[in-house]
Amino acid sequence: MQAYTYVEKGKFALLEKPKPVLLHERDAIVKVTLASICSSDLHIKHGSVPRAVPGITVGHEMVGVVESVGSAVTHVKPGDRVTVNVETFCGECFFCKKGFVNNCTDENGGWALGCRIDGGQTEYVRVPFADQGLNKIPDGVTDRQALLVGDVLATGFWAARISEITAEDTVLILGAGPTGICTLLCVMLKQPKRIIVCEKDESRVRFINKHYPEVLTVSPDECLNFVRTNSDHGGADVVLEVAGAESTFRLAWECARPNAIVTVVALYDKAQVLPLPDMYGKNLTFKTGGVDGCNCEETLRLIAEGKLDTEPLITHTYPLSRIEEAYELFENRRDNVIKVAVECS
Ligand SMILES: NC(=O)c1ccc[n+]([C@@H]2O[C@H](COP(=O)([O-])OP(=O)(O)OC[C@H]3O[C@@H](n4cnc5c(N)ncnc54)[C@H](O)[C@@H]3O)[C@@H](O)[C@H]2O)c1
Ligand SMILES: [Zn+2]
Ligand SMILES: [Zn+2]
Repeated sequence: MQAYTYVEKGKFALLEKPKPVLLHERDAIVKVTLASICSSDLHIKHGSVPRAVPGITVGHEMVGVVESVGSAVTHVKPGDRVTVNVETFCGECFFCKKGFVNNCTDENGGWALGCRIDGGQTEYVRVPFADQGLNKIPDGVTDRQALLVGDVLATGFWAARISEITAEDTVLILGAGPTGICTLLCVMLKQPKRIIVCEKDESRVRFINKHYPEVLTVSPDECLNFVRTNSDHGGADVVLEVAGAESTFRLAWECARPNAIVTVVALYDKAQVLPLPDMYGKNLTFKTGGVDGCNCEETLRLIAEGKLDTEPLITHTYPLSRIEEAYELFENRRDNVIKVAVECS
């Protein structure tokens, strides 16, 4: 089968590999129908994910059909259409039991697929702990509608869940990339009083204005003043930082009112400064971390009920044979791309 592979720093290539087989009783083999490209794939390509293993098949956002399951798998069976979770988790350790599945202490736990073990930009993928990592796609929900469930939508859902949003709140989201937009969709489910999205790319601002006209948008330069004017207590009640740019960590806490919650979803290239003297009296609560992607069943239900719709984010589609072109487009943000679907079978 064809598998898009991390060859070495700076180089991915479509290589021929054998079809994966079940290695453990809790494994499943999934025939990938659609895969997507994530900014984390680009981080691997550029060598900024040290734990990524050269030679692995990349891709950690995919949907497919269960082909076979190990003897201990009870939750899914061959023929089921499923989403695949970005995280591998055992479901049994201290952290898993608390829902902190990103911190699963199993040796395979955490982000393994498409990083430390073969991922999904290919025809077949082996998924460890299949009962935890696979979720059945409800009838009536298409593969395209479900494609982002296991990764960027899981991130948005987790970010909105931990941010303690109430009906009186003004919520500021920094960054309207795929993760920022998924965060926006999940924040909208909480129905806060006001949502402001700060984004520097004009085409992405237009995307927000077109699809979510009730959301206020602002450029980074005007953000602080705009938030002060358009909030009830001198700043946002909740800030979600999903941009990860040079200045956005600072912008996040500056835009927050005293005693606000600041959720840092973004992953940075460099350490960030926490200038406590400048923050005196703001009494902020920071929340950080890697996504705990264990709400996929709920997000799939919300999609089935028409309450969550990520399909507009999939702006381009390519066959696996042309995945190189898909990466070129995604990486260079050409043609107003947000997400790319790669047809794998
Ligand atoms: N915590 C997690 O588990 C997790 C999971 C997924 C993604 N992430 C992180 O979330 C962030 C966003 O991911 P993405 O896939 O949407 O990436 P992205 O690069 O497509 O999105 C970032 C967006 O921020 C915008 N931006 C840049 N500078 C800005 C500024 N000064 N003000 C406002 N907006 C600005 C960019 O134009 C872009 O649209 C990344 O840092 C990514 O690593 C974290
Ligand atoms: Zn990802
Ligand atoms: Zn665990």
